[in-house]
Amino acid sequence: MKRILCVLLCLVLALSCLTACSKDSGGTKVGVSMPTKDLQRWNQDGDNMKKSLEAAGYTVDLQYASNDVATQLKQIEAMISGGCNVIVIAAIEGSSLGSALDKAKAKNIPVIAYDRLLMESDAVSYYATFDNYKVGEVQGNYIKDTLDLDNAAGPFNMEITGGDPGDNNAGFFFNGAYDVLKPYVESGKLVIVSGQNTFEQIATPSWSTETAQTRAENIISSNYTDKDIDVWLCSNDSTALGVENALAANYTGKYPIITGQDCDIANTKNMIAGKQSMSVFKDTRTLASQVVKMVGQILKKETVDVNDTSTYNNGKITVPSFLCEPVFADANNYKSILIDSGYYTEDQLK
Ligand code: BGC
Repeated sequence: MKRILCVLLCLVLALSCLTACSKDSGGTKVGVSMPTKDLQRWNQDGDNMKKSLEAAGYTVDLQYASNDVATQLKQIEAMISGGCNVIVIAAIEGSSLGSALDKAKAKNIPVIAYDRLLMESDAVSYYATFDNYKVGEVQGNYIKDTLDLDNAAGPFNMEITGGDPGDNNAGFFFNGAYDVLKPYVESGKLVIVSGQNTFEQIATPSWSTETAQTRAENIISSNYTDKDIDVWLCSNDSTALGVENALAANYTGKYPIITGQDCDIANTKNMIAGKQSMSVFKDTRTLASQVVKMVGQILKKETVDVNDTSTYNNGKITVPSFLCEPVFADANNYKSILIDSGYYTEDQLK
């Protein structure tokens, strides 16, 4: 009996070793550098990347940099000296990682820019993101259609809250939306009462909810004590949350249309409660699986899938990119895109 048990145990051990070995892509190590744990999306991105890369048999070194550039630099340098074969980076500040990227290049370590483009460097092999300009267009078109800007008499009052100036995506989001809305601003159908309509004026350093809230509170108290705000264009959910908090704190007029991006849990709850009109859903699982595919193609020296080779110039080179499709989300379709797809459970949105 003992003998049979022993043989069985050996068989199980041998089998599990075999599976582990067959999944192991030659001890290949992938570094994943994420900006911060403060925002829901990066936690999801990091988790999805780690899971998918490990499922593909890679060893993963996943690091979060607390939104601190010096920390991100150190973490990437440790990935280089720690033997990572490919490094995937979602930068805090696109232009500040040059010294680490140079070191990666010197060691022939391919670098993939994840979601945010790495700027001013020729050491970036590929870029995978969502179509950032399109995200803005989806927001702008939503405002155009909901206010029926082509037919309604207006004028409508609008304010804008954008993203972090250190994040190359922020300009794309703003331009995508503003290119749709600009003709109506110029014709006077949309009125930006605060007068703040340049990217510099509407930007929110670090995409901070608190900073967006403080600015929105100032705009409301200086301009909207006797007027309604019809629409507040917000580039993403963390900044939309700041605007929503400011409206709850010191605004009594008609509730505006508010845009967002990411379908964060707090914002999806606000959409369901009627406090945010829409968001743009960027399924982090889609991006993660695209990047895992890229990693595999790079390591096997296969042709890497890209679908854009002209848009993303980082100041030094135009980086071959794969752009995933962003999806419109609101209180009417969130169940099918967020719950039925397994992104959230119903309980998470209660
Ligand atoms: C991402 C957005 C995110 C923002 C703040 C951007 O680079 O593309 O999805 O909302 O950063 O983290």
